[in-house]
Amino acid sequence: MKKILVIEADFDVRKSITESLVGEGFVVYDAPSTSIGVEMTIAQRPDLIICDLKLPKVNGYEIINHIRNVPDLATIPLILVSSETDRSLIRLGIDLGADDFLSKPFSLEELICAVGARLTKVSQLEHLIIEEQNQALMLTVAEAAEAERQRIANELHDGVCPLLVGGLMQLERVTEMIANQDNPKLRDAMTYLQNVIYNSITETRNIMNNLSPPALSKNNLISALDKLCSSAKEMSDAEFVFVADCVVTDFPTVISATLYRVVQELINNCLKYAKASKCVITLTSFEDEVLLDYVDNGVGFIKNNLPNQPSESGGRGLSNIENRVRVLGGKVKISSEINKGTSTNISIPLK
Ligand SMILES: Nc1ncnc2c1ncn2[C@@H]1O[C@H](COP(=O)(O)OP(=O)(O)OP(=O)(O)O)[C@@H](O)[C@H]1O
Ligand SMILES: [Mg+2]
Repeated sequence: MKKILVIEADFDVRKSITESLVGEGFVVYDAPSTSIGVEMTIAQRPDLIICDLKLPKVNGYEIINHIRNVPDLATIPLILVSSETDRSLIRLGIDLGADDFLSKPFSLEELICAVGARLTKVSQLEHLIIEEQNQALMLTVAEAAEAERQRIANELHDGVCPLLVGGLMQLERVTEMIANQDNPKLRDAMTYLQNVIYNSITETRNIMNNLSPPALSKNNLISALDKLCSSAKEMSDAEFVFVADCVVTDFPTVISATLYRVVQELINNCLKYAKASKCVITLTSFEDEVLLDYVDNGVGFIKNNLPNQPSESGGRGLSNIENRVRVLGGKVKISSEINKGTSTNISIPLK
């Protein structure tokens, strides 16, 4: 339940405000003076303060001043109430940091309306802050995951691969040494072992390349995407065009890696499903944003007909794209029309 503190010198007015708010389901504390009001603000940390402008000895301005200068209390919304008609005095209260002003006498409806508006604004702000914190957290996790992928790729490259290659070379030497022996079983066993090690090297290299695409190792996203499009062109009859129009080229690693994997998936889908004769991929960057646009003129598909859940045979690619981009605070729009082609537009903010 939301807590409201009412600081009002006039007993009858204080009682009437307090009773009205209690009737609306709020927990209400009341204080007849500035000093008690400040004490209660510190002790109860209310969600909202309603404060009379003209209090004995120390007035409402002093309360605003005090509260706005204590970091822990500074964000508590405060509504000033007064029978004062001088606009400059009201203006002063607002300038000092009051959030709203109610002229006495006011109706219960006006009071509840003002309280509701302030509390809604605070919860909207809190919601925004939480969203921003979540976004920052997701980005940190994505950056850490990318760094971890690179670390594992390096470990495989520097640790596992040399061992396997060394083992394969030894095996080839031994195979040569026993080449003259008439022992077919031994020869078969050696060939089998060589194949196992050879396949393990190939598999390890594939894992390494997936974890950390070599084309991205120089952190040059533009040339890496250009290479992806060139090899797609070699694999199909379709024309693949890559266009880069970039103000910024040194993207954070996590953004380069994301866009690279997104383009890999879009090209894979194009080759697998689109039957397109042309596919254009455009990378555009500004100081604060990078845009990736994909368009093909293929057979298209109906988005609503896609299964909600991925299956064992696939169906993960497009939702992975959406998740990867969302983690970076970006937006994705995938549009497709039967026989008119497919387009994907991505924007990612640059910090
Ligand atoms: N460029 C495209 N042209 C035509 N159809 C497409 C295109 N891109 C995606 N699709 C359709 O959308 C579906 C979902 O694509 P998505 O990439 O999510 O899954 P997938 O490619 O089937 O499996 P996965 O990517 O997990 O290997 C595809 O099965 C295909 O029917
Ligand atoms: Mg796919």
